[in-house]
Amino acid sequence: MMEIQTALLKWYHTHHRELPWRKTANPYSIWVSEVMLQQTQVKTVVPYYGRFMEAFPTVASLARADLEQVLKLWEGLGYYARARNFHKACQTVTTDLKGIIPRDLKGFKALPGVGDYIAAAVLSIAFNIPLAVVDGNVKRVLARVFTMDDPVNHGPSHKKFQAKADLILDRSCPGAFNQAVMELGALVCSPRNPGCTICPLGQYCRALESDSVDKYPLRNKT
Ligand code: ADE
Repeated sequence: MMEIQTALLKWYHTHHRELPWRKTANPYSIWVSEVMLQQTQVKTVVPYYGRFMEAFPTVASLARADLEQVLKLWEGLGYYARARNFHKACQTVTTDLKGIIPRDLKGFKALPGVGDYIAAAVLSIAFNIPLAVVDGNVKRVLARVFTMDDPVNHGPSHKKFQAKADLILDRSCPGAFNQAVMELGALVCSPRNPGCTICPLGQYCRALESDSVDKYPLRNKT
């Protein structure tokens, strides 16, 4: 049996979607995409990302833009604090950090709006730093593969999912691995009618083995 990491990376290599932010290694471009993707679906983000990169192609260009103009391009994406924080963060990078995006977790997380998710996504994808991403898609994949009984909508469960994600992260290809888990969650291990028969993790999945895929992820009644 292949390792879970190898199986997933191999699947990702052949099946990933060609998305605009996957054509670049530029850390600013990747940061823009992850800020948008944090609370918004890929399909919605694509056109916003294109317009945003056209208007503000660099950290410096965003830093000198008026907030009003930034918010105008964000209209319809919602969660406007994301745009305000990102604008402020790029001003800090420009003014205090000589235009250089920090490559270390502590330095990057000191910027406004940069929490665990953004830090892990950007640092792993742009700089190959071994940090595991945990979002809703990742939690669903982990809950199923490892039959984790931690409710995904319960704050304290987050640590359990982060610990499991840290444990299975491919440390030589963290950026591709993180994107592979998210992509699997989006394309195969979907909330309803998951594609278990075509899943590259089928042979590793405890939920599939116990015919309980529909039970996972567990959710607390709200
Ligand atoms: N969701 C958030 N970030 C993503 C990425 N880089 N690829 C696919 N889905 C994502």
